[in-house]
Amino acid sequence: MGDEVTGQSSVELTVDGEHRTITYREGSSLMQALRDNRIDSVLNGCSEGVCGACNVLNEDTGGVVRSCLFPADRFDGAELTTAAGLVDDETGELHPVQAAFLDHGAAQCGFCIPGMMVSAAKLLRENDDPTREEIASALNGNICRCTGYVQQFDAVEDAAARIRGETETSEQSSAVTDGGCPGCDCGFGGESDE
Ligand code: FES
Ligand code: FES
Repeated sequence: MGDEVTGQSSVELTVDGEHRTITYREGSSLMQALRDNRIDSVLNGCSEGVCGACNVLNEDTGGVVRSCLFPADRFDGAELTTAAGLVDDETGELHPVQAAFLDHGAAQCGFCIPGMMVSAAKLLRENDDPTREEIASALNGNICRCTGYVQQFDAVEDAAARIRGETETSEQSSAVTDGGCPGCDCGFGGESDE
């Protein structure tokens, strides 16, 4: 819906299980609209659809959306999951992908991690026993400047094993902890007040 007087628009969204009215400047991308509403688990890396930092899951289609590429108004009524929404609402437990990333030390600066976890979670919804090649392919659109991807690929393999019930989640990573991801509010650790 639009508002010609103020130049503001809004959409009704469900984000991480919570109904939200997202108000944004007309013409904003979904990424910018989410961030303007303090949904900081969606990061802005390139604004050009290259890096994957802004990835969110569209629960209506089951697909990963590069939220910087699409106008916010396209998502009126949509249900989205960001990295923060991967945490289990009822138990507070981290998603196996989040727990495995933590246990494998898969983040350095952490900026790429929320988008990468969204891509990984999507992969594991569809395939809980991916090959290394399938993991690499699923994360192909997530650029990381810090790591060599090895720990991250290891973490996704481990997360798949946890989902299959073959690996225990460690006590360290069984719940949201303080002081994890420094870059955002992704459920990987402490909250940002950015
Ligand atoms: S910020 Fe959207 S792909 Fe880089
Ligand atoms: S951990 Fe720094 S960009 Fe990936």
